Amino acid sequence: MDTMTSIPITRTRQSRITELDIDHLVFGATPTDHMFMAAFRDGGWQNPQIVPFGDLTISPLALGLHYGQTVFEGLKAYRTAAGHIHLFRPHRHHARLNRSLGRMGMPAVPEALFIDALHRLVELDQDWVPAKPGTSLYLRPLVIATEPRLGVKISEEYLFIVVGMPMADYYTGKLKVKVETRFSRAASGGTGAAKCGGNYGAAFYPAQQAKSGGFDQVLWTDATHHEFIEESGTMNIFFVIDGILITPPLSDSILDGVTRDSLLTLARAGGIPVEERKISYKALEKAFLSGKAIEAFGVGTAAMVSPIEVIDIMGKTYYPSVGPDALMYRLKNELQAIHTGTKKDSYYWNYIIQTVLQ
Ligand SMILES: Cc1ncc(COP(=O)(O)O)c(C=O)c1O
Repeated sequence: MDTMTSIPITRTRQSRITELDIDHLVFGATPTDHMFMAAFRDGGWQNPQIVPFGDLTISPLALGLHYGQTVFEGLKAYRTAAGHIHLFRPHRHHARLNRSLGRMGMPAVPEALFIDALHRLVELDQDWVPAKPGTSLYLRPLVIATEPRLGVKISEEYLFIVVGMPMADYYTGKLKVKVETRFSRAASGGTGAAKCGGNYGAAFYPAQQAKSGGFDQVLWTDATHHEFIEESGTMNIFFVIDGILITPPLSDSILDGVTRDSLLTLARAGGIPVEERKISYKALEKAFLSGKAIEAFGVGTAAMVSPIEVIDIMGKTYYPSVGPDALMYRLKNELQAIHTGTKKDSYYWNYIIQTVLQ
């Protein structure tokens, strides 16, 4: 039975799919033909619709442009080896979206609206879900405050938008990161656990500084002591030390990553010892100096599992193992096998878009 909201669709007159160069995808540069939109007004979400992808018209007074009430999500649709299309863990992304919205004083998006928006958009633009190994359709739900009234206040009007774009691997190659002990991403009591635009804007300058020093990203440390490692760029961070998989515990300054949760679940099920615990850069340095075998990697929807080959700790360079036997590749392969439908989806993470079965 189809219980979905009926979402009016205005189709594009001219698809751009023939312009798509699947072998040279630039992340975020090739939106699909359509986008989803709904408006929040008079206390409720109204007028859900799918329209041709295009520019928005919002007032220069729109509150979101000034005071940062913008929240987003990032998830993927995959095409399986058999040609079916599914979304990866959309309900968990929805729950996080609403936690982020709550922290920013913004209205929740009902689960049915979120799921139906993604389902209908992906169904309509299904030809944009690439089949090539390592590719996917990245989906970006966004909520932005649109009330045109320039006062420092909570907006009473919002837009909920979903756009999609095919993507290949986000980071290719191995990462060089630097432990950041001057700048902070997120303070306790702040917005670090929310996926709000301001967190990213504030991280650009430190990341730019690190890039000019030859690094790909910073490894954020806690804002109070600049001692405990938190996350990196748009990735949660994992280490393997002496065969134990270690990741910092969730807090209000760390994003509750869906990939982090998926990998922890797979690791525990596979009998790998797991510790969610604080790890200071000093303890990490000590482990390197004692000659222990150490892996380090970042994980996220866009980044998947990205090996780290260099860590700079207070000006000293350390080299985690990135050899082919590393545990991170085993976990990555397992997760990828669920994405591509070659491993049983025991946790029901894949939300199947039924209607693409042709
Ligand atoms: C700051 C931050 N940390 C971690 C992640 C990883 O989260 P997920 O695995 O849900 O994509 C992301 C990406 O969404 C992020 O932006």
